[in-house]
Amino acid sequence: MTHQLRLNDDTFEPFLAEAQIHKRIKELATQINIDYAGKAPIFIGVLNGAFIFLSDLIREITIDCEIDFIKLSSYGDARTSSGQLRLLKGLNCRVKGRDIVIVEDIVDSGLSIAYMKELIEKEQPSSLKFVSLLLKKGMHKLDFQIHYVGFEIPPEFVVGYGLDYAQKVRNLKEIYRLVPKPQERPDELGYE
Ligand code: IMP
Ligand code: MG
Repeated sequence: MTHQLRLNDDTFEPFLAEAQIHKRIKELATQINIDYAGKAPIFIGVLNGAFIFLSDLIREITIDCEIDFIKLSSYGDARTSSGQLRLLKGLNCRVKGRDIVIVEDIVDSGLSIAYMKELIEKEQPSSLKFVSLLLKKGMHKLDFQIHYVGFEIPPEFVVGYGLDYAQKVRNLKEIYRLVPKPQERPDELGYE
């Protein structure tokens, strides 16, 4: 990862390198392999953002496991949250009595993850934990724990490695962060 990225009017700079991401994913997977030894959890990836993280994570998982996906409504292409969430794709697996691990790309306000917690708890899993590659510091107001966090980051807009900019640049191998324009304050930055 070398240079800045120009997208429309915005400039992004390198933030987390491919090797750094993969090293951390191996550490998370090692911990998950230990914690779930003898169990067969279902990893539930949150579409679209978490698909790359989930695919790299589960290839480091050595215990029996299953995969499913869930999709929530996004905030459109605006970069600010409407605060309204809907389920666009539900689960295809039976959750009752199973160990469930929700896999997210990033936790920002915490709205999405709180919504999924409520949804899945209704189905009576035997356990429910969360893994998120990124956690924006000070943004989430959660009354429960994210058990496995890849990186705690400042509350900045980031793209790449599954995370989009108006649906683009999910395919980047590394993560970039937005360079604020001089006239912008951080609280004016939102996301898809
Ligand atoms: P939350 O509901 O506010 O926690 O936001 C969760 C979702 O918003 C994530 O799963 C991402 O898909 C998206 N998101 C949040 N922050 C960013 C970002 O900095 N870049 C790209 N997508 C983001
Ligand atoms: Mg997401």
